[in-house]
Amino acid sequence: MAAINIASHLDQLGLKPSNLPVCTGRQWFEGINQELASHSPVDGALIASTGMANTANLDTVITAASQGFDRWRTWTAPQRGEVIRNIGNQLRDHKEALGTLVSYEMGKSLQEGLGEVQEIIDIADFAVGLSRQLYGLSMHSERPNHRMYEQWHPLGPVGIITAFNFPVAVWGWNAMIAAVCGNSSLWKPSEKTPLTAIACMNIIEPVLRNHNVPEGVFNMIIGSVKEVSEPMVQDPRLPLISATGSTRMGKAVGELVARRLGKSILELGGNNAIIVTKNADLKLAIPAITFGAIGTCGQRCTSTRRVIVHASLFQKVKDALIKAYKTVRIGNPLDETNHIGPLIDQSAVTQMQQALEKIKKEGGNILFGGDILTGNEYASGCYVTPCLVEAATDMKILKEETFAPILYLVAYDGPLSQAIEMQNDVPQGLSSAIFSENIKEVEYFLSSLGSDCGIANANIGTSGAEIGGAFGGEKETGGGRESGSDAWKGYMRRQTTTINYGNSLPLAQGITFELS
Ligand code: UN1
Repeated sequence: MAAINIASHLDQLGLKPSNLPVCTGRQWFEGINQELASHSPVDGALIASTGMANTANLDTVITAASQGFDRWRTWTAPQRGEVIRNIGNQLRDHKEALGTLVSYEMGKSLQEGLGEVQEIIDIADFAVGLSRQLYGLSMHSERPNHRMYEQWHPLGPVGIITAFNFPVAVWGWNAMIAAVCGNSSLWKPSEKTPLTAIACMNIIEPVLRNHNVPEGVFNMIIGSVKEVSEPMVQDPRLPLISATGSTRMGKAVGELVARRLGKSILELGGNNAIIVTKNADLKLAIPAITFGAIGTCGQRCTSTRRVIVHASLFQKVKDALIKAYKTVRIGNPLDETNHIGPLIDQSAVTQMQQALEKIKKEGGNILFGGDILTGNEYASGCYVTPCLVEAATDMKILKEETFAPILYLVAYDGPLSQAIEMQNDVPQGLSSAIFSENIKEVEYFLSSLGSDCGIANANIGTSGAEIGGAFGGEKETGGGRESGSDAWKGYMRRQTTTINYGNSLPLAQGITFELS
């Protein structure tokens, strides 16, 4: 493996041994007297530290975000787009350094780390185009000499809460779109990956300076749930909270935001299945299932967690997956010959082990893996072998999302509708896929009687969605949509307008009202 010099990347990203936890774009602020150390799951080494903010810091930064919004919304949308274009370019220049830090701080493969930065670059490009396309509809009024149309106004400062597994891309999807819409944003990154967040703020800072972007348009704060997240989601100065994380977290956020009748975009757990029908092309299905299940070490909300296979192919699929799993190389994710790196931390390893205990108790048959790796290369204690489980449909754990590389294989022997019923019979509804060469099966799966998920694919896996589509899911996944398509509408305030250009005052619905 070519030696990767983390120190020089940290230097390029402006990271110091100790970093400030609050940023309003160009200015940084101290927090409380408490350090948050970020250790790499790759080798356990201390990368650097950040401070921690408290509720008083939060108030300062929300005030800055409100003031930033007041000024930013007066910029035209294409002017805002120009700033985003240069943010995208700045990210292009820092792609290698930031992608490497994502990989080192989070543990995903270098390719995936670089891919994540590419997603922000792509969403920035998308947002630039969008800055000239924030279209509203126009309608024909029922009243003579009246015109009706709808317009989209900036909404206000947007709170963005992100998870460790996509430590920078999810901020990009939200913050870039929010910014062209005329909003400021306040990012609260995961406490498990604070350095990548600081790096992002450092990367965009010269762009903000060069364009004279007002202070308080792009903000960031690092702190605990109690001191920062909870008061943040309750603050009425943030009309929208976009939160990514577990369903448990999302329910708590959703409830607090709903109490003040705020808006929320919730991007929560998935329990994503691939259906393999008897008409599947296994040359496509097996690598798609394997990548979906083990990619990012099973820590994507879109990770494949269940495979529902037609009984006639079950043995073949099982054998092929065991064979594929045996070839998976686990180790330092910065070494591009490895497929997967570690889990995020040792508590994730413990949770995986607890899930495996439960699986065994419920009668699941471990076909492969599930071990904790030991030895020099694995000294951080966060490396596991991905696990294949032969499961029965009535096992309770099939309904849960374990954020680890555990894949359940279940068989169906009836019509496709049976497999779809099994697929949909979980609380979550993020991503899904079918492998079939039969157009009738594919169309049925994509019909209103088919998959109940926000994402439904045919002959590709469940993960790795492109930024161009609206991303999100149904049921306990939270119902939010972010990223492409018309997801931008969630970040704006819709206004319906009727203009009378005549000389009388006709009322709608034929109502007359005459004053004598
Ligand atoms: C997530 O895991 O929170 O579709 C997002 C994918 C990625 C996004 C996953 N583009 O797998």
